Amino acid sequence: MRLDIITCLPRLLDSPFSDSILKRAQEKGLVTVKVHDLREYSTHKHRTTDDYAFGGGAGMVMMIEPIDRCIAYLKAERTYNEIIYMSPDGELLTQSIANQLSLKENLILLCGHYKGIDERVREHLITREISIGNYVLSGGELAAAVVADSVIRLLPGVLNDETSALSDSFQDGLIAPPVYTRPAEYNGWKVPDVLLSGHQAKIEDWKQEKALERTKSRRPDLNMGLTS
Ligand code: ADE
Repeated sequence: MRLDIITCLPRLLDSPFSDSILKRAQEKGLVTVKVHDLREYSTHKHRTTDDYAFGGGAGMVMMIEPIDRCIAYLKAERTYNEIIYMSPDGELLTQSIANQLSLKENLILLCGHYKGIDERVREHLITREISIGNYVLSGGELAAAVVADSVIRLLPGVLNDETSALSDSFQDGLIAPPVYTRPAEYNGWKVPDVLLSGHQAKIEDWKQEKALERTKSRRPDLNMGLTS
């Protein structure tokens, strides 16, 4: 997979991709992540990427030209499956959207900033809008990192144990069951006996029961096993 992220604050995206799973995925050649500084596509002498809003109003608006030039540059190199604008009013990110995106070859994530973006970008240049939650961030960079992480970890070979992404919470519409590690008893707090029993079938039944119980009490909106 190839992931191109367009931003006017590229340094905000340094750390999410330089550690742990996302770093290893790139080293293994399973994903190529490129961060593009929008300022490099500005034709203004001070490399500005925003301007005052027509009709007035608070805040600067991201200009269409640098965005269009950057997208055109990328599209000349390859065909993109989706050009996604990160926006609080986009469709809410779910596990099933992450699953869908993980099957794509080439994706662009465009990060918004300031008060907004020239509406013509949304009308003509992008194919999809994604929000990571019903709250407003200062910009789309952290949201883009969240989308990238949720997608990259699903790519075959990224996680050591390929089944571990399948057993994530939400993959089957259920919250994952509790997990424990050694010691079997700490401060008198015990690990459930069944997990120490060595009886695999009983352990699997217990995990399923706990997953259902948790989902019912914490996230009844997940519809108990029906993936949304
Ligand atoms: N940009 C600002 N807030 C956002 C959000 N909640 N999701 C995606 N992009 C954003």
